[in-house]
Amino acid sequence: MTARPIIIDCDPGQDDAVALLLALASPDELRIVGITCVAGNVPLDLTQRNARRICELAGRAEMQVFAGCPGPMVRPLKTAEAVHGESGLDGVDLPDPTMSLQDRHAVEFIIDACRSAEDGEITLCPTGPMTNVATALVQAPDIRRKIREIVFMGGTAINPGNTTPVAEFNVYVDPHAAQIVMQSGIKLTMLGLDVTHKAITTPKRLAAIRAIGSPVAEAVAGMLEFYDRHDIERYGMPGGPLHDPCVIAYLLAPDIFMGRDCHVAVETGSELTLGQTVVDWWGVTGMAPNCHVVDHVDSNAFYGLLIERLGRF
Ligand code: BDR
Ligand code: CA
Repeated sequence: MTARPIIIDCDPGQDDAVALLLALASPDELRIVGITCVAGNVPLDLTQRNARRICELAGRAEMQVFAGCPGPMVRPLKTAEAVHGESGLDGVDLPDPTMSLQDRHAVEFIIDACRSAEDGEITLCPTGPMTNVATALVQAPDIRRKIREIVFMGGTAINPGNTTPVAEFNVYVDPHAAQIVMQSGIKLTMLGLDVTHKAITTPKRLAAIRAIGSPVAEAVAGMLEFYDRHDIERYGMPGGPLHDPCVIAYLLAPDIFMGRDCHVAVETGSELTLGQTVVDWWGVTGMAPNCHVVDHVDSNAFYGLLIERLGRF
């Protein structure tokens, strides 16, 4: 099997960090062309540092990490330290990275990487606000044909929002970027709260991660212990949802997920419902589907995959 070339566009964040580790542990299936960072959970200066910290934790300092947009396309940046802590990776004390940050802007890298690829070759994996990806599509619409698919964490169809009553964080932070992606005509797969709230790190699953016993597993367990407390308190869940790793798991094991093709639009005008992903679940508008909306995962299979891959470090 040839490994699928992907660009992970992220804002680490503990769950982005686990997504990166899952991808880094899966070289037979996924070839990480580059890791691009965006402002989101914490400001850009921290997200790019955290991405490099995770690469070094994984022993993969040869990875190329790029810093991108420091804020959304139109709106002011809203961050989520209440969820992720001041560092974005609270719960573990990783050393400052020694690998260097690439000089090129993340948007420039996305454009260059797509332009030098074959048609339909690159899969983009946004796990934060989609500012970098949308900016690349605006600056270089020609890259659309090079993109096989955009598989992203964001939005919600039927589940309530986690940032406003109707909006999920990544889409709420940059709704204009998300709407550009929705209207791009590129094949889209959305892993929103409908599915990620079914991927819960229960105490038993957390213990299984810790029991791996390696420094990487220890770090993941520490991060998740910190991160989980927020959702336990807010939603009364038995643990936190592993949002972003769902994107990578979907690429590795699509059969453990289920969803349906729908038309999705993003609200960019209303104060009340800003950032809502308006998902035509029942096809009532008659508009052609533009997105595969995933709403279910076999959570035992998901955690089985994650634990097996973390065990490789
Ligand atoms: C998303 O927002 C961030 O807090 C997480 O990293 C995830 O990408 C969930 O709404
Ligand atoms: Ca994220």
